[in-house]
Amino acid sequence: MSLFRLSASPFKGSRVPSLVASFQFASNHFSKPTLLNPRLLRTMATSQSGKGTKTVFTLNTGAKMPGVGLGTWQSKPNEVREAVKNALQIGYRHIDTALAYGNEAEVGQGIIDSGVPREEIWITTKLDNPWHKRVNEGIESSLRDLKTDYVDLYLMHWPSSSVPEDLKKHYDDWNFIDTWREMQKLVGTGKVRNIGVSNFVISNLEKLLNAPSTKIVPAVNQIELHPNMPSPKTLAYCKEKGIHCTAYSCLGSTDSPLAHDQTLQKIADAHGKTPQQVLLMWGLQRGTSVIPKSVTKSRIEANFQLDGWELTQEEMDALSNIKSRFKVCGDSWLPIKVFFNEEGDGGDVPSH
Ligand SMILES: NC(=O)c1ccc[n+]([C@@H]2O[C@H](COP(=O)([O-])OP(=O)(O)OC[C@H]3O[C@@H](n4cnc5c(N)ncnc54)[C@H](OP(=O)(O)O)[C@@H]3O)[C@@H](O)[C@H]2O)c1
Repeated sequence: MSLFRLSASPFKGSRVPSLVASFQFASNHFSKPTLLNPRLLRTMATSQSGKGTKTVFTLNTGAKMPGVGLGTWQSKPNEVREAVKNALQIGYRHIDTALAYGNEAEVGQGIIDSGVPREEIWITTKLDNPWHKRVNEGIESSLRDLKTDYVDLYLMHWPSSSVPEDLKKHYDDWNFIDTWREMQKLVGTGKVRNIGVSNFVISNLEKLLNAPSTKIVPAVNQIELHPNMPSPKTLAYCKEKGIHCTAYSCLGSTDSPLAHDQTLQKIADAHGKTPQQVLLMWGLQRGTSVIPKSVTKSRIEANFQLDGWELTQEEMDALSNIKSRFKVCGDSWLPIKVFFNEEGDGGDVPSH
């Protein structure tokens, strides 16, 4: 039986062995991966500099990732090219896409249309679940569609290796540890500058970091984060391991209930800002990068008006203490569970 068909993790509650906790102190090479080398004492700490739209996160590889990016999930092919072009011309320097979004070709075209040089742009894309046994083909497909030689960050989209011919089935002879083993081989090929994961809860990160084949600590874990799904334990765990967290669905996604939250509205009114701007500032001040999606030019502009103001600690706490919960992305559509309700993030939390 595959390890990942077990509903209870054998690693749950266990401490990471000292071998795993002893990360390499990475050099300042642009994208040198952080290795699990027992002879070296510590991982390179992630750090944050700048404020607002100038926020930059230094990853455990030394790479510098712009804190505000444009999300593109559910951006239709006939909309996303323009959205990407507009965002880059407004000043965004980070674009988030994925093979699964089916829009990489138009994202690539939007990048070219913008006239912004490739080397000034951070591009993140993701390996789709049915491609876990075909990592090389997956990255080649993304590079071809994006019309670029490399991506800045390549993420395993979900810790689920789906059988391509039947997406309701998980491979019996393959899991995310095998996928990560293959993704590690991309580092050094020039095709990817950093590798990371997405939708990994603590127990799955522990499995990954404990695996003998794991040599590289993920640079990023991209997860759902907003005041109705704040996941403070996962954030703290990732920080301790030197894994930067990117907040997806940071506005609460389509038809977000957060747009009507009274606590949020009060704080927005106090600053003369929109609830969405406050959500983005909350994300940045928590130390996470934010990737709001919009195909509407005025919203793309508004979401990039984050300079010259910030939230007080009291306002940060008020947002972090909002009690209602919803989850945009559950796991019921996957062949295995990937959320184990470790901090109210179960796959069955009703979405709005
Ligand atoms: N790794 C993963 O599994 C995963 C999962 C989900 C998302 N993501 C990434 O994270 C990105 C963001 O998440 P998301 O797309 O779920 O949702 P989001 O960014 O939280 O919200 C997007 C929604 O908010 C609207 N919106 C944007 N700016 C607004 C503003 N200023 N005022 C009012 N409404 C506004 C957008 O509408 P319009 O577009 O119509 O303007 C859209 O309906 C995705 O696009 C994707 O790149 C990753």
